[in-house]
Amino acid sequence: MSMRGTVESVLLSEPEIQQRIDLLGEEINRDYAGRELLAVCLLKGSVVFMSDLIRRLQMPLTIDVMRASSYGDATESSGSVKILQDLDRDISGLDVLVVEDIVDTGRTLAKTLDLLRFRQPRSLKICTLLDKPSRREVQIPIDYTGFVIEDHFVVGYGLDFDEHYRQLPYIGILKL
Ligand code: IMP
Ligand code: MG
Repeated sequence: MSMRGTVESVLLSEPEIQQRIDLLGEEINRDYAGRELLAVCLLKGSVVFMSDLIRRLQMPLTIDVMRASSYGDATESSGSVKILQDLDRDISGLDVLVVEDIVDTGRTLAKTLDLLRFRQPRSLKICTLLDKPSRREVQIPIDYTGFVIEDHFVVGYGLDFDEHYRQLPYIGILKL
């Protein structure tokens, strides 16, 4: 079996992540009190975070998923982001919260947000578990951030390297 690198160190432990999501959940519950929310999971990296986050949310909630090709995708022509899987339903008039694993250059999310904004949701906010601002190329207004991290390649808690490591309950730094 090939292991594709090793996890060199733990950057964020399972309890650290869970405690932070408690606080994010409280904040989102306060901000959307009395409203109904559609949480959009950006596949695949956000599935673990999304599942933990929504279990803290108390407003009437529906979920949907969407998949866009990221900059690392070999099939992607420079600058254009392809939607590989779209939402099931129209979002016009809805309060939408996009849930992302990590904002790196910001390109994937910027294009995805352009598309969603065009469909005229009532509101559109972003919640990301991780933010790597040192690599940003496109400015993104992030509404909720779990952790701001240095420029490391991280895996675990949904984040992959070559589709591996997503199942780790913590976030680790990968050594190739
Ligand atoms: P962006 O368009 O550069 O912001 O790309 C963001 C996407 O790249 C994320 O949704 C991840 O799928 C992936 N990505 C960026 N940095 C990392 C990392 O450190 N580990 C794993 N995936 C990453
Ligand atoms: Mg992703």
